[in-house]
This record gives sequence, structure tokens and C-alpha cells, in this order.
Amino acid sequence: MIDKNKQKELVEAALDVRKNAFAPFSKFQVAASLLSTDGNITCGINVESSSYGLTVCAERNAISAAIANGKKEFVALAVISRGAAYPCGACRQVIFDICGNIDIIVADENGEIKDITDTKTLLPKAFGIENLE
Ligand code: THU
Repeated sequence: MIDKNKQKELVEAALDVRKNAFAPFSKFQVAASLLSTDGNITCGINVESSSYGLTVCAERNAISAAIANGKKEFVALAVISRGAAYPCGACRQVIFDICGNIDIIVADENGEIKDITDTKTLLPKAFGIENLE
């Protein structure tokens, strides 16, 4: 598990960008921050569409941005929202596929950490690349 300073850094990075969430439909603003093994933090926010199903969650936007920036290995992800919601099912699958079993920090809109868990706990018996080999 990452140390307390890094946890705080990750949560603060997400808190900083949460105001940029594009959530005019749900008004539910989410931010995610992803720590890669090189010590960098990449953030994402949810981006909604009027065609609701096209919405992309904060976690997947953070992962896509990190991949676009050449990050390949990951350590932890923080997700911040009102009431400290856990990543949705689709995001759990994508986190598992791209980041593997990383720490997942769940915090509320004030940055208060409510839980620290990991991918395998959130997505037990996952489908993955092994199934395709
Ligand atoms: N949302 C996320 O960004 N991450 C999740 O894991 C759950 C849901 C967003 C999608 C949508 O913009 C809003 O929260 C309400 O579902």
C-alpha cells in the first residue's frame, strides 16, 4: 500500500481537477487520479453526453490520459465524489485490464478517504487477458 503522503498527494490532485468535471446532466462530479510507477500522477474527470450512454467516467478518462502520456505501469488510483462512491463496474474492468491489481482510494468531495481497497477486491474472479490466451 502507498504511504500516507502519497495517498494525500493523489487525493489532492483529484480534488484540484474535480471542478472541471463535465456533468451538466447528472450534476455528479467525479475526479480520478492515477499514480504510475515513475511517480507521476495523471488525472481525469467524468465527461457526460446528452446521449447518456456516451458518458465517460473519471477513472477511464484518467487511464486514457495516462496511456496517452506513455505511462505503462501503475500503483494506485484515487476516486473522489460526493459521498465517496466506488468505481462503477465498467471502470473496475478497465482498471483491472490496464492497471492490474492496484490500490484504489475512495474519498469524498472534501478529500476525506473513506476506504482503501484494491482492484481484485472490487472485481473478484475477473475476466482478463488470460482468458484470451
Ligand atoms: N461516474 C464516474 O465518473 N465514475 C464512476 O465510477 C461512477 C460514475 C460518473 C458518470 C456520470 O457522469 C456520473 O458519474 C453519474 O453516473
